[in-house]
Amino acid sequence: MKFFIDTADTTEIRDAKALGLLDGVTTNPTLVAKSGKKFHDVIAEICDITEGPVSAEAVADNAEDFIAQGRELAKIAKNVVVKLPLTTEGLKACRALSDDGIGVNVTLCFQPVQALMAAKAGARFISPFIGRLDDISTDGMQLIAEIIQIYDNYMFDTEVLAASIRHPLHVQQAALAGAHVATIPFSVVGKLIQHPLTDLGNARFMEDFKNIPRT
Ligand code: G3P
Repeated sequence: MKFFIDTADTTEIRDAKALGLLDGVTTNPTLVAKSGKKFHDVIAEICDITEGPVSAEAVADNAEDFIAQGRELAKIAKNVVVKLPLTTEGLKACRALSDDGIGVNVTLCFQPVQALMAAKAGARFISPFIGRLDDISTDGMQLIAEIIQIYDNYMFDTEVLAASIRHPLHVQQAALAGAHVATIPFSVVGKLIQHPLTDLGNARFMEDFKNIPRT
């Protein structure tokens, strides 16, 4: 499973890289706004940190504008992936940009058939939002499993990118379901490593080590 970091905070991205788990980055307008930096600047900075795919979101209400923005975003660096919403206009733009050889991450997916449409439009990634479904008492993980089954049935190349992850169990369940990628907020990364029994065992070993005679 590939690990992307879901942030536009370059300090977090560098920290994730130091941990050896940075396979790519996803951003969205909310995350870029939080960074306080200019949109193109922050995407360029992130692309300098990682060679993995960096999702940059186009914002428009028609395919023509999505395509124009997508082409501009793709010029920032060779690893930019254009993020487009799962709307009719978004999918038209997905087809056009994919035909140009530009990778597209289709976002805001909440139903398996939407994911089927995105794959048919040539998406490189589909982003089902697990947490936002769980928030409205709908099983986000079932969506992941059903998309994987549909893609397997027809051998689509589109990668399932589990998004809107809120806690370690989401990562575990997405991995068990076979999601190709999990995009994880940095706050969750630390929680993936920690366990109280690991800390307890480590403290005991350190204490006992002190009692071993040296020569
Ligand atoms: O970047 C898309 C997604 O991961 C957003 O997550 O927590 O805002 O639902 P969230």
